[in-house]
Amino acid sequence: MQKHFFVLVGTRPEAIKLFPVINRLKAETNATVTVCATAQHRQLLDQVLKLANIVPDVDLNVMTANQTLDRLSARLLEGIGAVLDNVRPSRVIVQGDTTTAMTGALACYYRRIPVSHVEAGLRSGNIYAPWPEEVNRKIIGTIADQHFAPTKRAAQSLRRENVPKDRIHVTGNTVVDALLAVKSIVDSDPRLVSRWDGIRANQGNRRIILVTCHRRENFGAGVLNIVEALQEILRRQDVAIVLPIHPNPNVFDVLSSRLSNHPRVELISPQEYSDFVSLLSLAYLVLTDSGGVQEEAPTLGKPVLVMRETTERPEGVEAGTARLVGANPSKIIEETVRLLDDDDHYLAMSRAHNPFGDGRASERIVRALLDA
Ligand code: UD1
Ligand code: UDP
Repeated sequence: MQKHFFVLVGTRPEAIKLFPVINRLKAETNATVTVCATAQHRQLLDQVLKLANIVPDVDLNVMTANQTLDRLSARLLEGIGAVLDNVRPSRVIVQGDTTTAMTGALACYYRRIPVSHVEAGLRSGNIYAPWPEEVNRKIIGTIADQHFAPTKRAAQSLRRENVPKDRIHVTGNTVVDALLAVKSIVDSDPRLVSRWDGIRANQGNRRIILVTCHRRENFGAGVLNIVEALQEILRRQDVAIVLPIHPNPNVFDVLSSRLSNHPRVELISPQEYSDFVSLLSLAYLVLTDSGGVQEEAPTLGKPVLVMRETTERPEGVEAGTARLVGANPSKIIEETVRLLDDDDHYLAMSRAHNPFGDGRASERIVRALLDA
């Protein structure tokens, strides 16, 4: 029987983590796929959709500058609800923990449409970190009837919340599928291989520290602390920082005003996913508060210092590929210097395996979607 899947994508990480599922599902003859871009992110989402050759069937274009969570949620709930009334899919697929995913699940619940949740079961145990993502995930978990947990630990968290065992599938994280697909393109395209020759030439043989920062719980004091730590690290002559700045004005304004014009800082605009993967390959180590980057770096053997107090992805810390440093300047500096100066420590962190996936998550997810 033909099944009609409705896939919601709102932000950059949702598009990166869902394009392997969307493209695989579209190749199935007994599946109809409607892709709805909410455009909670505009430019960042479009960059990924273009790279993945996905043209959304519906585009809600909801993003406004410096949007508040309540206004964004209200616009999404109404917009998604109206489209669902029109399209009437048999099942909706949401990913992760964004406002798009949460309001999408809620709009389905109001219409009794079943929801499949990709990247289900991540929990930090603290509703304010990540904020508001921890609660978004719990809401989606309550509504969904099919949960694609990336790891065994995520599946166990769902079991503790009484989700029935037969509704949980341990699949791996689709980010590894996306990364490996794009990495093979990067490695075989001379333009992408040489993409960062300019920075290489500018910075000589300095080691590259790749930095990303955008989380709401780091706005204000957190971002200022991170800048303070970066400025201290930059006193060393043997490192350069490359920082693609997130367009959110709460981080963009602080980072660009305090870090520009330093000879060893390369402040760049948000990169296309293929260029970012190429940059990640070039980096010596990664300082980030991103969820996705935490999951990608170990696949490329890059140690990650996570600039959060807690993480809903502890598997990286347990595997030895990541360490939590918070937005705490002395911890950020201490752990960065240790990775730069202690080769054994660096090798131990860069050799650890990736606990997040094996590159076959989307295959498992599509099989389960067709069987549901
Ligand atoms: C959102 C997600 C977060 C995810 C992050 C990925 C929620 C609650 N948060 O956070 O989980 O980690 O995306 O990046 O869903 N902006 C642009 N252009 C863009 C994207 C954003 O200008 O392409 C600016 C806009 O001013 C926008 C602001 O960034 O209002 C914030 O975007 P929003 O999606 O609300 O929150 P993020 O902090 O990006
Ligand atoms: N990313 C990208 N270009 C950039 C920075 C990040 O393509 O300039 C990718 C990165 O590889 C990862 C994803 O964006 O897959 C992470 O998105 P983000 O950090 O915005 O959100 P989070 O993962 O924290 O939800």
